[in-house]
Amino acid sequence: MQDTKIVPVVSTEFEKEVYSGLTDSPKHLSSKYFYDKKGDKLFQDIMAMPSYYLTDCEYEILKNNKEEITDLFTGFGSFDLIELGAGDGKKTKILLKEFSDKNIDFTYVPIDISQNALNQLHNSIEKELPKINVQPFQGTYFEALKEINNRKNRKIILFLGSNIGNLEHDQAVSFMNKIQNLMQPNDLLFMGFDQKKNPQTILDAYNDQEGVTAAFNKNVLTRINTELNANFDLDQFLHWEVYNPETGSAKSYLVSKTEQRVRVEKLDLDVHFNQWETIHTEISQKYDDEIISWLANESGLKMTTEYESKAHGYKNCVFKKS
Ligand code: AVJ
Repeated sequence: MQDTKIVPVVSTEFEKEVYSGLTDSPKHLSSKYFYDKKGDKLFQDIMAMPSYYLTDCEYEILKNNKEEITDLFTGFGSFDLIELGAGDGKKTKILLKEFSDKNIDFTYVPIDISQNALNQLHNSIEKELPKINVQPFQGTYFEALKEINNRKNRKIILFLGSNIGNLEHDQAVSFMNKIQNLMQPNDLLFMGFDQKKNPQTILDAYNDQEGVTAAFNKNVLTRINTELNANFDLDQFLHWEVYNPETGSAKSYLVSKTEQRVRVEKLDLDVHFNQWETIHTEISQKYDDEIISWLANESGLKMTTEYESKAHGYKNCVFKKS
């Protein structure tokens, strides 16, 4: 009789990426898998910590400039306000409230990878800002492009929180170029960029004492445990953050404290870790003015306005098609 080995059907994107990431050398897993119900909550806790200065900076910029931003966005009739990685919308609500108070005609299209985050956001807007028309869309940034392309109204695309920083420069250029291709001359791209600063401030933002960021980073392992029936022991991994002040890239790793073997049943996969072997999980790129104009140039965009939070080095920039 022939050997009948059950070959697992590797189907979902998550399964495929986990398989390739854990069999690659060096190992890696994508930070987009941090965000499920538990991860969304952990990220909200991170945003509430003073050490994670990014949220406060952007909040301050939006609050201090909401009138001017409203003027920028309006004047051409109705528009779609499309937000990539909307999350809990806490910062966006400053603008949403302003638009709602001024009876501005627009549709809010929050896009997020987490259905849980979108549901919470949708419910809270219905309660707090009932006049606003909300059309949520669940998907990755890549799937978001299709949704953007389907919308024929004037578009204002929000990409806040320095979310662009999760992409390496070449990926960022390619993504911004794809957005640019979908823009009309009056459309705007409004982005947040965390800037290079004292390296210690950056390390502190991604390595808090309470261990919230560590738990957030490890949430990708928790998801593999529950969704792919694996047995990662979270205590056997160390959250490790490095920041390179030359390149501006902050990178998160999970480091195996011991030599160990992990079983991922759903993928019929045994993963071996040497002691101190790493899994790269996230990049949070930091920018300076040169890099921002380089990104814009490469993507076919021109910057028309910028707002700065001087205290902590954070910028929001407005781009048009060039
Ligand atoms: C939501 C991607 C902007 O990279 O700063 C926070 C996520 N990771 N702490 C970031 C994050 C660790 C965050 N972004």
